[in-house]
Amino acid sequence: MNEHESVVDLRLDRAHSSRIYDYFLGGKTNFLADRMAAGSVLGVFPAALVAARINREFMHRTTRVLAASGMRQFLDIGTGIPTAPNLHDVAQGIAPDARVVYTDNDPIVLAHAAALLRSTPEGRTAYVQADVHDPAGILTAPQLLDTLDLGRPVALSLNALMHFVPDDGGDRAHEIVECLKAALPSGSTLAMSHATPDFSPEAMGKIIKIYGEAGTRLQFRSRAAFLRFFDGWELLEPGVTLSHQWRPDHPEDATHVTDAEAACYAGVARKP
Ligand SMILES: C[S@@+](CC[C@H](N)C(=O)[O-])C[C@H]1O[C@@H](n2cnc3c(N)ncnc32)[C@H](O)[C@@H]1O
Repeated sequence: MNEHESVVDLRLDRAHSSRIYDYFLGGKTNFLADRMAAGSVLGVFPAALVAARINREFMHRTTRVLAASGMRQFLDIGTGIPTAPNLHDVAQGIAPDARVVYTDNDPIVLAHAAALLRSTPEGRTAYVQADVHDPAGILTAPQLLDTLDLGRPVALSLNALMHFVPDDGGDRAHEIVECLKAALPSGSTLAMSHATPDFSPEAMGKIIKIYGEAGTRLQFRSRAAFLRFFDGWELLEPGVTLSHQWRPDHPEDATHVTDAEAACYAGVARKP
């Protein structure tokens, strides 16, 4: 090892949210501790597999809609372990010149980032290893500034991320999102999904406990608290819905899952 190399401890002995989610999506980047925590979650909320899949599909649909509406710059925070199709695959499938910056705080996502960096020749992708608790650090990261022009509209996505940011008695999660929103120009968009206790509070309470025992703090939020993330921006139709109900590809997709199984609010808004 030379002086420029460093060892990152992936802490494979501890469950991590990105790897638990990877397990729910049927991925291979998860380890015993993650599978044990995932098993405990499935014990209290068997719909976690469905909830993860439809959350991912919300990202596919919003990215398609936004790319088709002319968005060419995407900033995806809390990206997750690469899972095909990734956001840039979807965006560049419609607009090959789309530019995408990915961010996550789990070093295992960095370790797999090569899959996120396979851009079209016309477009560009970049990865920033960062924590959403430091929005200013993300917005000034050299990889981001080399890839995105913050003077032009950006499609920001915070999918299944902000419930990992507890308020701790303050208003931290909303302050972070406001900081990100303020840095983007008119015409920018925010796509967001977020777990809620509104439909099965008991199961959601048990999930918070399971993640907490694994060292990950969660705060699920009500519809009113979720809506507040979009303050000052104009919600696109159909407004805030459950994740599977936001512009479903087929009408039956909106009804084959119950609200309690989806357990995640979703919405997209544009900055006036
Ligand atoms: C449930 S996954 C969602 C992945 C992807 N956004 C999606 O919706 O398919 C949540 C991701 O957020 C990341 N994450 C959690 N807390 C974070 C933080 N404070 N800063 C940045 N990323 C975070 C996790 O590492 C994980 O990859």
